[in-house]
Amino acid sequence: MNKFLCCTLVLLDISVKWTFQDDSPPKYLHYDPETSRQLLCDQCPPGSYVKRHCSASSPTQCAPCPAQYYADEWNSNEECQYCSTVCKELQLVRQECSSTQNRVCECVPGRYLELEFCLRHTECPPGSGVAQAGTPESDTVCERCPEGFFSNETSSKAACLKHTNCSALGFKIALKGNEVRDNICQENTDTTPQKCGIDVTLCEEAMFRFAVPTHVTPNWLNILADSLPGTKISVIVKTVS
Ligand SMILES: *[C@@H]1O[C@H](CO)[C@@H](O)[C@H](O)[C@H]1NC(C)=O
Ligand SMILES: *[C@@H]1O[C@H](CO)[C@@H](O)[C@H](O)[C@H]1NC(C)=O
Repeated sequence: MNKFLCCTLVLLDISVKWTFQDDSPPKYLHYDPETSRQLLCDQCPPGSYVKRHCSASSPTQCAPCPAQYYADEWNSNEECQYCSTVCKELQLVRQECSSTQNRVCECVPGRYLELEFCLRHTECPPGSGVAQAGTPESDTVCERCPEGFFSNETSSKAACLKHTNCSALGFKIALKGNEVRDNICQENTDTTPQKCGIDVTLCEEAMFRFAVPTHVTPNWLNILADSLPGTKISVIVKTVS
């Protein structure tokens, strides 16, 4: 045989084997008592089990998994696996039992699985916000609010918020924000006296308080007597001079 033909045949042989293996069932070794030989039997597909092993004369016989049983892979098992029973406390069914999949449980919203327990998602304290929300499998990831951002709440959902841009609103900053507090804006009052600019009511109140004459000191004994229950008696204050 010439060299070229030989190699072509080998290559052809390999590629045929590969394409053939792609859609043929995986195999398993089985000892056949009749012939006392190891046979290469076909496995059974997901959703089924081996009802009868192959023999020298017949292929493997597969049968579907009964209700509440499953096989999630090609297999050579003589029975399917039993689906897990009901989900635990604080869990709900994410996926029901089928012939090809076991029942899958997951933690209820707001909780994640840590070892065997569904723990509450961590809440990020003021000064930090949620960088990555928690899932049924993972806890919240918090981050410290970066420069220019703040969070004033304890929350497993809220991200850091941007400080209000006072100048963009036509105001100036009265109190600069930090990681737990927003900027507090104030009207630009450079031209007018500041006292009554913000809140008229507060301003009037302040003026009223100022207006009360301070030299009049109330007779505190009479006030006390007026507010006492029962018969009113007059109080005489004798001033010794
Ligand atoms: C947090 O800030 C927001 C907006 O600035 C405000 O409405 C809210 O009352 C604040 N919450 C707390 C707990 O301080
Ligand atoms: C605020 O807004 C102004 C004008 O819109 C902008 O030039 C400035 O960069 C902003 N400042 C911040 C801190 O975002």
